[in-house]
Amino acid sequence: MAGISVLSVGHSNPVVVEAVKRQLDRLAHALDIYTAERIQLVQKLVEIAPGGLRDHSRVLLGGPTGSDAVEGALKLAKFNTKRHTFLAFHGAYHGMTGGALSVTSKKSYRSGYLPLFPDIHFAPYAYCYRCAFSKEYPECDMQCVRYVEYLFSDPESGLTDPAAMIAEPIQGEGGFIVPPGGYLSELRRICDENRILLIVDEIQTGFGRTGKMFACEHDGVTPDIVTIAKAVGGIGLLLSGCLIRRELDSWEPGGHLGTFRGNVLACVAGLAAINYTLEKRLVERAVKTALSRHPRLVRYTVCLPIDRSAPYTKGKQSFMPRWKTHVQKWEKWGKRNKISLKIDY
Ligand SMILES: Cc1ncc(COP(=O)(O)O)c(C=O)c1O
Repeated sequence: MAGISVLSVGHSNPVVVEAVKRQLDRLAHALDIYTAERIQLVQKLVEIAPGGLRDHSRVLLGGPTGSDAVEGALKLAKFNTKRHTFLAFHGAYHGMTGGALSVTSKKSYRSGYLPLFPDIHFAPYAYCYRCAFSKEYPECDMQCVRYVEYLFSDPESGLTDPAAMIAEPIQGEGGFIVPPGGYLSELRRICDENRILLIVDEIQTGFGRTGKMFACEHDGVTPDIVTIAKAVGGIGLLLSGCLIRRELDSWEPGGHLGTFRGNVLACVAGLAAINYTLEKRLVERAVKTALSRHPRLVRYTVCLPIDRSAPYTKGKQSFMPRWKTHVQKWEKWGKRNKISLKIDY
């Protein structure tokens, strides 16, 4: 699990540790101002940003946690659009603070804290195994996308014009739900057609964890705002932020403050980790390793056939330690259903 998607270059990666040690001797904490270290990280983030954000984005470095990044993204969307409605998804996890929890769907996390942000709507995610519409992919014609379209087009749907739609490109906490290819680009299309912002939460999926630097690149999508945290601090140092379209950079100086925003040590660690990832070609290597060593696992998570009789254990927590048992079950299921589980994409 790499410290819940934090340690993308390994525990205490020596190259990153060395860079942090050098920085520690010079300066460990500065105010929320432009330090050289911060500027270098920001430039690197802009260089690796997904899609049309590459070389054309602004970076807002946030507080220590992913929840801080989500709070910043929601605030920025509200500030730019002067609206306060958000559309999020069933199974979504965006954090535990007020705004982030408002767009997180799990009842047990939310109950006890209501009311949260007003006017938050949730739509079914593309969770093909447990389709909310009891359809089968691809015959379903992505009913979940059609439903989002309906929310926007029907004046009786209860949805007022949102500031933004917020989605994970692959749901993490929701159970590692990989939507079918094209799902995110459909959401992008709907946002464009309805002139609303698309916030893609890459806090868990960013920095090479899915075979691309950012998971939204699998669909060639350019979000308006990308939230980042977790692995951006290199070896677990605390940092988060948002990559945003330039036009959204509308906060005056001091518009969104924080004592620990853009922490110098975390910036140095983040830059060293990104450089390490690029130099060692870790993203490409992760894909190769996954395909050669764990083809059945990849098949299982990325392109498994949809069949309700197929073996499954609820929830990701139980999945990881027991994946071998799962693979064996899948092998048996494959034989029974005469489906080859060899990797074929
Ligand atoms: C997609 C996503 N967004 C936001 C968060 C919240 O991050 P944090 O726990 O650092 O507040 C998480 C944490 O797991 C996450 O997976």
